[in-house]
Amino acid sequence: MSESGCRVFYGSAIGDDSSWKLRCRDYSKAAEKIPIIDERFGYTSSDTPGAVHYESLILSTTFLLSYLKAPFLVGAIAPSSMFLAKALCRQAEGAQHLIELGAGTGAVTQHLHEKFPETSLVVVERDMLMAAALRRRFGTCTVVADAIQDREDLFKDIPDQSVAVSSLPFRSLPETVAAKISALLKNFLLASPKRRIVQYTYGQRVPFASPHPALTWKRQELILRNVPPAWVWTLQKSTNRP
Ligand SMILES: C[S@@+](CC[C@H](N)C(=O)[O-])C[C@H]1O[C@@H](n2cnc3c(N)ncnc32)[C@H](O)[C@@H]1O
Repeated sequence: MSESGCRVFYGSAIGDDSSWKLRCRDYSKAAEKIPIIDERFGYTSSDTPGAVHYESLILSTTFLLSYLKAPFLVGAIAPSSMFLAKALCRQAEGAQHLIELGAGTGAVTQHLHEKFPETSLVVVERDMLMAAALRRRFGTCTVVADAIQDREDLFKDIPDQSVAVSSLPFRSLPETVAAKISALLKNFLLASPKRRIVQYTYGQRVPFASPHPALTWKRQELILRNVPPAWVWTLQKSTNRP
């Protein structure tokens, strides 16, 4: 599907759950009805004159509904704060290509988009409704409406200096899903010491166990102005490892 130079790929979400696929179809229909109307996001909709400031409300509600439906897949009751989003961007400095994992309502996407306007940005979100809203809001980036563990292709033929910015809730994801994503990220990182993952957590423990001895977590920043306060981490291959 293509609209305003932006691509959206629809696909399966978690495993082969057919009821989920059914919901995805419903979602994409519902998403077409979302008015894109809030000028705080830097755009207005000419199709819906008079309908103002609903988008942020709709997105917050969508996020909350998504949380209520699958709390372990969403992992937070509210989107990241601007302070956390900016910290994630700081840790992504120097990237020649960006992949955002678990973009949700776009709280982090917005800052990545603004801070790195010249850098290619691929945004991955498994929730079809949120992915459709992201596509409307960020017309120039590639939005992939799919579960990242099913999209190994997104890590092929990308520059050495690629950075994955992740909001995935590893601690609450089903173990098999977390293991698949961890294996995918391991291959992505081992390909070059110039690559890294930027990830936040709400505790002091590493986001997930390092998937390879050559990959080391570093705790970079504590962001108090977030609910709850969050740690920003990076995972990267040590330069002195083969
Ligand atoms: C904690 S929310 C973060 C949302 C947003 N990035 C933020 O910081 O406010 C995590 C998001 O990851 C998405 N997600 C969970 N598992 C996923 C997967 N396997 N692939 C892609 N997205 C996933 C959820 O739907 C949810 O929107």
